[in-house]
Amino acid sequence: MDHFEISGGNRLRGKIAISGSKNAALPIMAATILCDGETVLKNVPDLHDVRQMQTLLRQLGVKSERAENGDLHLRAEDEMNCHAPYELVSKMRASICVLGPLLAKRKRAQVSMPGGCAIGDRPVNLHVQGLRDLGADFDLVNGDMLLRAKKLKGRELFLGGPFGSTVTGTANIMMAAVFAEGRTVIESAACEPEVVDLAAYLNACGARITGQGTPRITIDGVAGLTGTEHCVIPDRIEAGTFMIAAAITNGELELTNCRLDHLLAMVDRLRHIGVAVERGDHGITVSSARRLEPVDVTTQPFPGFPTDLQAQTMTLLCLADGNSIITEKIYPDRFLHVAELNRMGAHLRKEGPTVIVQGVKRLVGAPVMASDLRASAALVLAGLIAKGTTKVQRVYHIDRGYEQIEKKLCGVGAEIRRITEA
Ligand code: EPU
Repeated sequence: MDHFEISGGNRLRGKIAISGSKNAALPIMAATILCDGETVLKNVPDLHDVRQMQTLLRQLGVKSERAENGDLHLRAEDEMNCHAPYELVSKMRASICVLGPLLAKRKRAQVSMPGGCAIGDRPVNLHVQGLRDLGADFDLVNGDMLLRAKKLKGRELFLGGPFGSTVTGTANIMMAAVFAEGRTVIESAACEPEVVDLAAYLNACGARITGQGTPRITIDGVAGLTGTEHCVIPDRIEAGTFMIAAAITNGELELTNCRLDHLLAMVDRLRHIGVAVERGDHGITVSSARRLEPVDVTTQPFPGFPTDLQAQTMTLLCLADGNSIITEKIYPDRFLHVAELNRMGAHLRKEGPTVIVQGVKRLVGAPVMASDLRASAALVLAGLIAKGTTKVQRVYHIDRGYEQIEKKLCGVGAEIRRITEA
């Protein structure tokens, strides 16, 4: 298992190219189950989760290959297997994105029910409810969700839950509805850019989807889809993480291949903290040369502040000049990084879904344990500014979602060594 050793204290300066979005690429890869012919995806990050999705799709008869230029070519060749087993689903929750496409194209989907994970229970009831609303029969067989439907029927359905909309749930229902008879209207749909990108891909393949990016998405059923070429949107969470890297080190980073309109809530909070965010000729420049102001942050579905940047923002606010309050409204238990940051000298107190962050003058290096993808990123950020050496263990979490994070950060002045243990 690899770990990182980070020597803190360097100011970061330079340019970082943001990779393609993991959470946009994974459902689009799953959507190729729906298509005849080849799809060529550009800007797909080279990540563990992407390779994991390729493995699952291979089992489901979708061949995929990386070309030398980085493009990912995918083609559904065999429609016999409709089973995503526990061994694969338990390694990556986004495997659930094959549920809608399998049901729509092959009339049957058997997908292992994902269990809980480090960030919470993560139920999938809304995915199942939405597919049942479209006319699918549901059974639970040996921990697998088994959905069957000879023909799905379009209708109006409500997809909101106690924590708001569901991102991969919206993706699943949208993908299931592309071949449904008539019109499907999803109310309380997720508005995340990743859902918009999936709709853009599906439309380019021949689907008729409108309203993506709003809480009401309309899908008019079509007879078939044909694979196409599509360029995946930039990863807004990777971009937000590097914005914090610039801010926390009092540095200056120019981020290229990055969309400011996907990051407005983050930019709003950064500006209140005292970080300068400017749109440049080639990208976004983030710099900070002054004290950090405390702010309150509440995570919400898009366009609100993303839960996937909550942990990293907490690291930044650890060093603010006063008290901040962070409230998690998507995953109330997503706080495993709190204890680790406290081991580095932070003053954090958790009260239910809220953390009170009392700013400190400095963080100090320590051995810390990564618990999930974004919490790991928060610890790497803490290591960048901590006095001394920080050892971040279990970095396989970070490799799931950040493409060569240590190389990108070292390229702008950080000192991070990846140590591979036997
Ligand atoms: N929820 C339900 N029932 C459901 C589905 C969700 O109650 O059937 C609840 C969840 O428990 C949560 C809220 O609804 O409280 C939102 O969950 P959502 O379904 O939107 O999450 P997801 O689709 O499983 C995606 C990302 C996550 C990201 C969340 C929220 C992918 C592959 N994953 O998960 O990304 O945190 O949306 O924005 O797109 C990450 O990249 O580190 C990551 C965890």
